Amino acid sequence: MNLKCFECSKAYELDTIIYTCIDCGGLLEVVYEKGELLANAEKEEAWKGLPLSVWKYYPFLPIGKGSSRVTLNEGGTGLHITEKLSAFLGISRLYIKNEGENPTGSFKDRGMTITVTKARELGASTVICASTGNTSASLSAYGARGGLKRIVIIPTGKVAYGKLSQAMMCGANVIQVQGNFDNALEVVMELTGRHTDIYLVNSINPFRIEGQKTLGYEMVDQLGGVPDWVIIPVGNAGNISAVWKGLLEFREMGFIDRLPRMVGVQAEGSSPVVDAFESGGKRIENVKRPETVATAIRIGAPVSWKKAVRAMMDSGGTAMKVSDDEILEAQGSLARLEGLFVEPASASPIAALKKLIRNGTIARDERVVCVATGHGLKDPDIISRFYEKPIEVPAKIDAIEEILELKEKKTIVAAI
Ligand code: F0G
Repeated sequence: MNLKCFECSKAYELDTIIYTCIDCGGLLEVVYEKGELLANAEKEEAWKGLPLSVWKYYPFLPIGKGSSRVTLNEGGTGLHITEKLSAFLGISRLYIKNEGENPTGSFKDRGMTITVTKARELGASTVICASTGNTSASLSAYGARGGLKRIVIIPTGKVAYGKLSQAMMCGANVIQVQGNFDNALEVVMELTGRHTDIYLVNSINPFRIEGQKTLGYEMVDQLGGVPDWVIIPVGNAGNISAVWKGLLEFREMGFIDRLPRMVGVQAEGSSPVVDAFESGGKRIENVKRPETVATAIRIGAPVSWKKAVRAMMDSGGTAMKVSDDEILEAQGSLARLEGLFVEPASASPIAALKKLIRNGTIARDERVVCVATGHGLKDPDIISRFYEKPIEVPAKIDAIEEILELKEKKTIVAAI
């Protein structure tokens, strides 16, 4: 097992503190020897009987056995079959993988438990990230749990309050920068280049991807097979790449014999990956001023875009952009019909699915998993911005009956 450049295949020792290839600047990946994962699976048979969680899959993770894990019990999130939403969309089997059930309320915890454990193995004293919010919340919680100093750099005024409050509460040094996520990430990369004792935990860090790939393993385990489609929101493009890596590994080990088609979803005002996919996937045009109500995926210069495009292309999948109105409508449908309150970015796959059924890309009898990446409570402001305030009346039964239109009924009962 070592680190390998995704572009030029230059290899590095697993424990080198490095984020991009020295030769070509490409992203790095944890790469296992041929047959290594299967050999681990056979040697460590106990994993099969463990309850679902990120660490269930320890034989396939790049963490030493003797390492002390920094964990808050991540993974093992629900895969919910939807009946009413499936009927509403006109499809028979739509499942929601609800990553909001993770300890800090998003899928980031899968990657963070591994990366912060690794940070301690490597002797780092401080962890840092740039973030649209969820990574900062996750870093702060796991950094606190692991006894590391934590710094988060966020775009001013564009991080939902639920996420910001998590980072502040968990004792991170929170710094807002004037600019967007892309500017924040640039600064963080420069800073970690200059101060090597500060460990970068954005998804450019290959250990983040290792934790997040368990999302792919887990959905297959829960489903008892492979879905036809997996639909995922795309921001910096790490997660779709991670899920695809997990699925490829499961196939290599012979646990599954086919792969799903992967769909990456972005908001119309922030869709460089979808545009790159649609124009052949060879190059990307970054978006200078990304804008969307789904602030989690408000990213104009996605670091892992090549990996994401490869996942969509190699799987025979597609990319789709959706408008803010479509996202909010999907968010409402999921909550009202299924009781699943997710943040706007997490509803974007439902909005995309609707369009993909309508245009005939996804057939009505196919099995679809939409990944809901973060909990609705992360972004409470969305409610006051887009929904009316609840009605207010005196605390009197008459007033309540009037509002609920129960008056009529009472008169009829009295008459009998
Ligand atoms: N959904 C949510 C809720 C997110 O927070 C993010 C990314 C994504 C989807 C996209 O995942 O970047 O791996 O393609 N949030 C990052 C953050 C950027 O800083 O919290 P991706």
